[in-house]
Amino acid sequence: MTEVTDNLAALTFWYEFYYDVYPNQFQYLWKIKQLHEQYGPIVCINPIHIHIHDPDYFETIYTSGTHKRNRCSWCMHEGASSFGSGMLETMDHDLHKMRRSAGTSYFSKRSAQELAPSVVGKVFKLLDRLKNDTGKIVNLNDAMAALTMDVISGYCFGEAMGYLENPEYAKEWLDMLHGGIQIRPIGRQFPWLINTLLDLPPWIAVYLSPAAAIMGELHLGILRRIEKIRDEEASPDKLKATDHEKKPHRLMTEGQTFVAAGTETTARTLSVTTYSLLKSMDGREKLKEELWKGLPERTLPVSLPQWEALLYLSAVINEGLRVAHGVSSRQPLITTHEELQYEQWTIPRGTPVMESLYLIHMDPDISPEPFAFRPECWIENPKLTKYLFAFSRGSRGCLGMNLAISELYVAMAYLFRTLEMEIYNTVEARDVLTTNDCFVGMKDLKSDDMKVKVLGEVKG
Ligand code: HEM
Repeated sequence: MTEVTDNLAALTFWYEFYYDVYPNQFQYLWKIKQLHEQYGPIVCINPIHIHIHDPDYFETIYTSGTHKRNRCSWCMHEGASSFGSGMLETMDHDLHKMRRSAGTSYFSKRSAQELAPSVVGKVFKLLDRLKNDTGKIVNLNDAMAALTMDVISGYCFGEAMGYLENPEYAKEWLDMLHGGIQIRPIGRQFPWLINTLLDLPPWIAVYLSPAAAIMGELHLGILRRIEKIRDEEASPDKLKATDHEKKPHRLMTEGQTFVAAGTETTARTLSVTTYSLLKSMDGREKLKEELWKGLPERTLPVSLPQWEALLYLSAVINEGLRVAHGVSSRQPLITTHEELQYEQWTIPRGTPVMESLYLIHMDPDISPEPFAFRPECWIENPKLTKYLFAFSRGSRGCLGMNLAISELYVAMAYLFRTLEMEIYNTVEARDVLTTNDCFVGMKDLKSDDMKVKVLGEVKG
């Protein structure tokens, strides 16, 4: 392994700290890219983590079936009582499998199809509001996050949080999430510090950071909803008090995971895709033409498979997933029972190994013009979907993928079938592109956000 470890990063965690925490912030991803350019497709990025950049090797790391994969506690909030016992943060393969299997059927393709009318209802609610806002400026991120938040909260807790009715849409929630997620890179270096902060009661947290207090309030709100559902619905044999997995606090951490994982990722993908289409006259016209033919009557119900059959819309969704970087980061996994062989290198079992989604999606060998928005490439080469890893793969891949895909199709189709909009005062390098890696891809931290001006309804 000499070539792999022959760099300063392999010697000390301070190297990663320098790029991700201080004096730079959230920039290690781009340094890792440089390390690969210098040392090849496999490098040590700190004393314990091996990073590979090879799209063809991705599914060997992120796999399922009999291959066990633990998470790496150095990266996650295992010790925090909030979040810590949700499936995303569950270290052990078998415990994770058990927790995840409890939710699998609720997020199957079939469930997503059954839920589609509720998604359509919420998209129509957003469109009605936007129609009334003709001539006004709308913050795209906040509006899309209101949609995705109301979809996921309605599904998980039986009652939407009502952000679509909020004057500022989901601004409060997004500000909190963006503030909160920035502790992740610090959490890698000092997990005990972050876990303590995460578990502070909201009335103490407010003194440290308003974002932490809002997050605390949100967690308590989820807990209250779960307790209400338990009191109303659960029979004693269904919910034994001794069963730790079904205790309200444990379920709250799962609720937090769904809300956090299901809102920002999908909202960012919707916003970036909308922006990219508004920027490209050609792409926008192609999509509108296809939608016009596929949906001559705007209000007719359309099933998800019908949407998915639209070639250009599907290509737009794929390209949006590629360029939005809902999740941008490296997610280390640990093989528990097998060594991994990568080319001439043998990676011992127990070693955390990973790839970064951003680096794959921006690899010019796969997308020759990585920064361009070109839906056509998915039509010209349908095999390219092999390298679309936006939802990752394997046992730890996205549980909400079917729901997210349903939201993307329904929202994009009805939005561009219904409304004329134009980009307003948005600077791509600052407000759109992923320039910070905080697990989720984030734009410039001083960004004013993507904005659009609503011009009115599509004629016809
Ligand atoms: C475009 C939207 C979305 C993208 C790009 C996305 C992407 C991802 C990725 C890459 C992972 C794996 C993270 C890792 O390896 O640590 C993940 C996990 C997860 N996602 Fe999504 N996601 C999206 C929407 C959703 C939605 C709508 C939900 C709804 C509940 C959701 C729920 C989850 C959950 C629960 C996990 C953890 C799975 C596990 O640990 O087994 N996601 N997502």
